[in-house]
Amino acid sequence: MHKDLEKILFSEEEIKAAAKRLGDRINADYAGQEVIFVGLLKGSVQFMADLLKNIDLMCTIDFMCVSSYGNGTKSTGRVNIIKDLSEPIDDKNVVIVEDIIDSGNTLSFIKRYFSAKNAKSVRICTLLNKPSRREVEIDVDYIGFDVPDEFVVGYGLDYQEYYRNLPYIGVLKPEIYE
Ligand code: IMP
Ligand code: MG
Repeated sequence: MHKDLEKILFSEEEIKAAAKRLGDRINADYAGQEVIFVGLLKGSVQFMADLLKNIDLMCTIDFMCVSSYGNGTKSTGRVNIIKDLSEPIDDKNVVIVEDIIDSGNTLSFIKRYFSAKNAKSVRICTLLNKPSRREVEIDVDYIGFDVPDEFVVGYGLDYQEYYRNLPYIGVLKPEIYE
């Protein structure tokens, strides 16, 4: 597994520090209010766990699973709901927790979907952001790190479902997917 990576971008310590930094900001922004954190499966699981440990608010959690990718490394632009929310979100402050924002198609779909469900507010917290690949404009409120246009795996992020268990984020060798 480790040998399939070209280089390491972020260590577990750096990622945990980012989760603390973002958690502190969310605590300040929502002081005295309730929040529901919605993790997008499956990529957000490791980061969501770290983030939640830094949240000092009355909150609940939920998960959604959508797919836009198929099995390749490029977004198809179509978003399918595989698992929907299990709680209503009307009049709730929602913070979406995501592993990476690439084209922006997934998050712009989900933001619209949550607004249509009458959420009180919807913000996005993502571990990674690839701004160079954006196809749709989207406001991202909390960002761990910007990354260059390379295919990254680890800490929840996968290639064909593998590498999610790596305790760091790295760049996959192109020969693995070419
Ligand atoms: P978007 O809809 O193009 O913004 O795609 C977002 C989803 O694509 C993320 O939730 C990831 O699952 C996946 N994705 C985008 N870039 C990468 C990457 O570099 N590595 C692994 N997954 C990625
Ligand atoms: Mg994925």
